[in-house]
Amino acid sequence: MREPQEVFRPILPFPHVDNLIDSHGRRITYLRLAVTDRCNLRCRYCMPAKGIPFVPHDEILRYEEMARLISIFTDLGIRKLRLTGGEPFVRKGLLDFICSIKQQQESIRIYLTTNGVAMAEHLEALAELGISGLNMSLDSLDPKRFRQITRRNYFDRAWQTFVKALDLGIPLKINTVLYDSIKTSEIIALAAITKRYPVIVRFIEQMPFNGLNRVSVGAMTARHAEKIIRKSFPGLESRGASGTAIRYQVPGFKGEIGFINGYSRRFCQTCDKVRITVQGMLKTCLYDNGRLDLKAMLRNRAGDAEMRAAVRKTVFKRAANGFAAEAEALSHEKHSMAAIGG
Ligand code: 5AD
Ligand code: SF4
Repeated sequence: MREPQEVFRPILPFPHVDNLIDSHGRRITYLRLAVTDRCNLRCRYCMPAKGIPFVPHDEILRYEEMARLISIFTDLGIRKLRLTGGEPFVRKGLLDFICSIKQQQESIRIYLTTNGVAMAEHLEALAELGISGLNMSLDSLDPKRFRQITRRNYFDRAWQTFVKALDLGIPLKINTVLYDSIKTSEIIALAAITKRYPVIVRFIEQMPFNGLNRVSVGAMTARHAEKIIRKSFPGLESRGASGTAIRYQVPGFKGEIGFINGYSRRFCQTCDKVRITVQGMLKTCLYDNGRLDLKAMLRNRAGDAEMRAAVRKTVFKRAANGFAAEAEALSHEKHSMAAIGG
C-alpha cells in the first residue's frame, strides 16, 4: 500500500508549556490504557487459537501504578481516558478502580472498550459512575459467525450487553473489524442496525496485530466497505470526522456508520492519542514498539516532575505518521492487539 500524501505542519521547537504536544503540532489529550492482556474471546484477527503468551502478573501494571500514571497524564492535559485490553472485565477489581479514578480525577472522561461478554451485570454500576461511553466489538449479528470469528459461543451475552447499555442510555459504539472472511451481507446487516438503534457502527480495517505479525491477504479496505454500504444505502450523508473515524448517516436513521482506516492510516494528522500497554510502555503511535518504559520509571521511584518531563519529551518526538512509526520501530515482534490495548 502506498503512503498517502499528507500535509504536515512544520516541525516545531520543544515548547515550554506543561501539556502534551508533538513536533508536528498535534496536541495529545487522549490516553488509552490497557488494563489486561487476558481475554475471554479468541478473535481470529487478534490472537491465535491457543491465545498469546500472556504477560506474567508482576510485569503487568498494578492498579496503584495505573492510578499514578493517570494522575501524571491528567496533569499533562489528558482529558479522555479509555480503558482497554484484552477484555478489561477479565481483570478483578476493575469497577473499584474506575470508581477511584472518577473520585480522584474529576476533569477526565472515562470510556471502556469491551467485547461485552462478561459485563452486562456491571452496566448499572457503570451508568451510575457516569461512564462516558462504551466501544463494543461485534463482528457479526449471526451467532454462528460470531462463534467462528471469536472461537467462543457468546453472541447472546454480547447482545444482552448491547441492549442493556442502550436501555441505560450509555453512549455506545460498535467496532467491526473488516476481517478477511467478512461477508457483504454481514456488513449490510450491521450497518442496518443504525436504523433502529442510536449507535455508531464503525468498520475498522484489519491491522497486523494478531499475534502473528501478518494481515491476511483478503483483508478489506474501509473504502471498499463504504462502497458496499452505499449500494444498499445510497442516501448516505457525511457527518464529518471525529478522531480516527469518518462518519456517515442514512437520513432518518437513529445511528451512524463510521470507517476507520487503521491500515491505510489516513487519519494520522489529527491523531490526538497515546497508549500505555499492559506492561507499562508508552506508545506514541499504534505502529511504534513502545518508546518509554513507564513501568521501569515507576518501579525505580521516579518523581512526578521527572516522569512528566520524560513523557513530554517522548511525545514531542512522536513520528509524523503510522508509516514512519513502523519504519522506525526497533523490532518486529509478534504483537497482539490484546496486549497493546486496541
Ligand atoms: N485489526 C483491527 N482491529 C482490531 N481489533 C483487535 N484486533 C484488531 C486487528 N488486528 C479491534 C477490535 C476491538 C478494538 C479494541 O480493536 O475491534 O474492538
Ligand atoms: Fe479479546 Fe478483543 Fe482480542 Fe477479541 S479482539 S480476542 S475480544 S482482545
